[in-house]
Amino acid sequence: MTILGIETSCDECSAAVVRDGTEILSNIIATQIELHKPYLGVVPELASRLHTEWIGQVVSAAIAGADMKVDDIDAIAVTNRPGLLGALLVGLNFAKGLAASRGIPFIGIDHIRAHLYASQMEHPLEYPYMGILVSGGHTVICKVLGYDEIEVLGTTIDDAIGEAFDKVAKHYDLGYPGGVIIDRLAKNGDSHAYLFPGPSLDRTEHPYDVSYSGLKTAVINQKEKFWNGTSVQTPENLAASFQRSAVGILMKRVMKALEDTGLTRLAAGGGVAANSLLRSELSALEKNGLTVAFPSMKLCTDNAAMVAGLAYEYLRDGRASGFDIGASPRVTA
Ligand code: KG4
Ligand code: ZN
Repeated sequence: MTILGIETSCDECSAAVVRDGTEILSNIIATQIELHKPYLGVVPELASRLHTEWIGQVVSAAIAGADMKVDDIDAIAVTNRPGLLGALLVGLNFAKGLAASRGIPFIGIDHIRAHLYASQMEHPLEYPYMGILVSGGHTVICKVLGYDEIEVLGTTIDDAIGEAFDKVAKHYDLGYPGGVIIDRLAKNGDSHAYLFPGPSLDRTEHPYDVSYSGLKTAVINQKEKFWNGTSVQTPENLAASFQRSAVGILMKRVMKALEDTGLTRLAAGGGVAANSLLRSELSALEKNGLTVAFPSMKLCTDNAAMVAGLAYEYLRDGRASGFDIGASPRVTA
């Protein structure tokens, strides 16, 4: 089954053609990053307008890139939740129109499940496994019981991990988006130059939840109160020290969740799964007998291949969507 996937939940306008869930024939990602850069963050209205302008071309490029014609597509999948509402609606309505005009099945896909499925496409894992979704909008530690079944163990109580990277970078004028820049700077920094807060005391009721606002505030205060240009105060040292704490906060909860659940397989997904320190700390768990899977870099950040991949599982079970489905900015069941 050849599925066209469409993803417009945030600032990437993406379309992909995937055969039988895993064979990626094309995966076009048109990023709007440069156009949001002057605002140091994604402007929702601008994102929707750019998706509207770009989507036709991006979909055509994905079909041509797969060496196909639109008539060769068997079904259309689109992210319809969660994300920026206006941005989601552009992809959703385009997908509905194309599917209706061709008379082929259409399916709305959850962005979070799609991110978790991304590593499955390259490294199939037997269920259940521990899923770690780390992105600009989400930080979720969950048990993945099946392609459509997730039990959330912990989440962030304030900022998402990627958001913390982006806000710190914004505050220090390091550039946008911050994650990849901090990751790069950190490679030449001393991660012990600053002692930033690590995981807070164990939260007994919600032991797997994380919090990033304390760390973010401490890092920002460092500039407001203590930045006086001494040799220790370099962007590289700051980036390395912040990154060590940010990854440490997550790892502490992940380790506890692994210990408590006894799960022996783990998959990470989302933009922050591209982070080199997080990848090396998670990979190190393999020494303890764990199987750890990450998506390749191209499947970490938002992309439509993961959407088309996950859709295959639903369609194989005869679970297409009706044309009456809407978009939702929130995480839904
Ligand atoms: O999954 P994604 O493309 O979009 C959302 O669904 O949010 O994730 C984007 C996030 C941004 O916050 C970005 O700064 C972060 O992923 N990111 C990184 C890295 N590459 C992207 N964070 C840390 N290290 C990286 N190498
Ligand atoms: Zn995402």
